[in-house]
Amino acid sequence: MRMANSAFLQITFLLILFSNFFHTHSQQFSRRLSKNELGLKHEKLSHLHFYFHDIVGGRQPTAVRVAEAAVTNSSATGFGLVVMIDDPLTLGPNLSSKIVGRAQGIYGSADLTNLGLLMVLNFAFTEGKFNGSTLSVLGRNAVFSAVRELPIVGGSGVFRFAKGYAEARTHELNMKTGDAIVEYNVYVFHY
Ligand SMILES: *[C@@H]1O[C@H](CO)[C@@H](O)[C@H](O)[C@H]1NC(C)=O
Ligand SMILES: *[C@@H]1O[C@H](CO)[C@@H](O)[C@H](O)[C@H]1NC(C)=O
Ligand SMILES: *[C@@H]1O[C@H](CO)[C@@H](O)[C@H](O)[C@H]1NC(C)=O
Repeated sequence: MRMANSAFLQITFLLILFSNFFHTHSQQFSRRLSKNELGLKHEKLSHLHFYFHDIVGGRQPTAVRVAEAAVTNSSATGFGLVVMIDDPLTLGPNLSSKIVGRAQGIYGSADLTNLGLLMVLNFAFTEGKFNGSTLSVLGRNAVFSAVRELPIVGGSGVFRFAKGYAEARTHELNMKTGDAIVEYNVYVFHY
């Protein structure tokens, strides 16, 4: 009788201990975990190459002006101008080549004296193993410089924990329409 009682008490004690353990666990605000627990193995370095089509003119623009400074012509750089984009990204420079994703976000004129854009956008990929994954860009784009470097500040999907940079080079600028084709080389660390 005594033995049965103490065994019962022990089991009860263990049950309370474990329920308490799971209970606190579910209410925990933060904890340490190993990379393995998230399935993170080796950090990889990837190079992506594609062309960005900024289509501002024609019947189907992919870049539209959404705001500008109330004082028009206040600066030669169009300071304050904000453009929302959903620009196609293609494998080759021709717009009819394979689409690998889209550049979705905003660029704005953020420099009063020298043309410099603030770019805040996501590359949303639709091709191969990158389909559904994104890279987030936050950087300065001095569009008339030969090479511009934009930081990659993060990503999603296969690009979780991403960090890196993108190099942008103007491939073609149509002075009549304002349409631009920009070559991108992206170097990114991810798991
Ligand atoms: C706007 O600025 C440009 C370049 O500084 C100048 O050529 C043009 O005359 C200005 N337009 C107006 C309406 O002030
Ligand atoms: C782009 O591709 C289309 C269709 O393949 C072709 O007609 C056009 O000439 C190409 N444009 C350039 C600039 O190569
Ligand atoms: C990308 O993923 C979407 C949604 O899962 C799917 O509909 C589409 O067919 C995929 N595209 C490619 C090229 O795998």
